[in-house]
Amino acid sequence: MSKRDSENKFLSGNWYPVEESSSTELNISGELPKELTGLFLRNGPNPKEPINHKNYHPFFGDGMIHGIRLDEGKALWYKNKYVTSPLGFGPNTHVLIHGEKIYALVEGGSAPVILDSEMNFLDEEPFPAAENKRFTAHPKIDSETGEMHAISYDFGEYVNGLGQVHYVTIDKNGKLVKDHVIELPSRPMVHDCAITKNYVLVFDLPVTFNLGRREADKNSTGGDYPVIWNEKHLPRVGLQNKKTDEITWIEVNPGFLFHIVNSYEDEKGLVILDFCRYERLFDFENPLPMGNKPYLTRWTLDPLKKTCVEEMLDDRSMEFSRVHPDYDGKKHRFGYLLNDGKLNNYFKHDFDEKKTITHDFGPFKQAAEPVFIPKKNAKSEDDGFVVGFVYDKQTDLSDFVVLDAQNFSDEPLAKISLPQRVPFGFHGSWINLS
Ligand SMILES: [Fe+2]
Repeated sequence: MSKRDSENKFLSGNWYPVEESSSTELNISGELPKELTGLFLRNGPNPKEPINHKNYHPFFGDGMIHGIRLDEGKALWYKNKYVTSPLGFGPNTHVLIHGEKIYALVEGGSAPVILDSEMNFLDEEPFPAAENKRFTAHPKIDSETGEMHAISYDFGEYVNGLGQVHYVTIDKNGKLVKDHVIELPSRPMVHDCAITKNYVLVFDLPVTFNLGRREADKNSTGGDYPVIWNEKHLPRVGLQNKKTDEITWIEVNPGFLFHIVNSYEDEKGLVILDFCRYERLFDFENPLPMGNKPYLTRWTLDPLKKTCVEEMLDDRSMEFSRVHPDYDGKKHRFGYLLNDGKLNNYFKHDFDEKKTITHDFGPFKQAAEPVFIPKKNAKSEDDGFVVGFVYDKQTDLSDFVVLDAQNFSDEPLAKISLPQRVPFGFHGSWINLS
């Protein structure tokens, strides 16, 4: 058995880690749009040897960033490097730009790491004024104020019995301006948050902290992560007022979300939340976060009546939802998603028309998160490109693929052949350098 045939799903096939590398010899097919001048970065777990195949869980795998630098229609370089942190664990979940700085991010207590556009990791602490550098992989940036809003939690606090999360605000210069404690006695896993004009949404859902949950479970593989599905937990969403810090709780159907598409307030003041909804996850017997399929769902939350109306928007499972980067908290029409399972389709969902357009990569490809990049002089919300890494099972290599978001089903505008495969991972961003 090759080491890539691990019984641990997250160490088999294209999950298996790769070595660090770099290349300037990159072959482009099609035509790379000249205005894509910048850097695409994607973070994900890439565990270092020795790896414990029984207990490895990707949420704890060492972070590795894959980057590709584009310039005026040319591909200058590709490289992949481990995230190195002056403060401990190298974040493995997301990488994004805020203000002038690029941050690698993870939830659960580890500090963000700052890197430059050559993918050098800097010995620079994030967020001046913050006592604790804990953060999240999924902050939301208000494109009007430049403020970054986050709900963060800390496994260190959870271990010490502190049932609380933090509503953290970072200003446009990267300085911490708020660290407000919200008491959540169940110690929930809070992977994502959402913003609207007036609120930050706090997801207090039934996946809660449980240290050593798998110690008695000797027969399964797939790894240990210290959370469990908690039947006793009342699922609810908090509408945390950004200014007053008052919070309004609304009970919702049992379920879990890793990722939202977006959220906003409509003209009646109702809060619209579009997201990928799991019915149930992290059962004791089935620790993998893939036990139930996620479906694109809308919750309409009424802050006055404290009610939630649920609507399933598509019956195909989908995940890794993204939206136009300037639309956090504003009404969106389009979302971009990956099919959960075979991974060989991207979806573009039109929330106004309630229809989904598919891009099919074919039976031998497995794609990763689709990232939308708006054109510089975009005339509409979807006037731009959708990009991502796509793995080819036949060649055991990956491409970087560029789609025209308005002609979503068409052949890609361009593909860049990479010298190695890019393992499945988590999230990435486009960094504009033009
Ligand atoms: Fe995520």
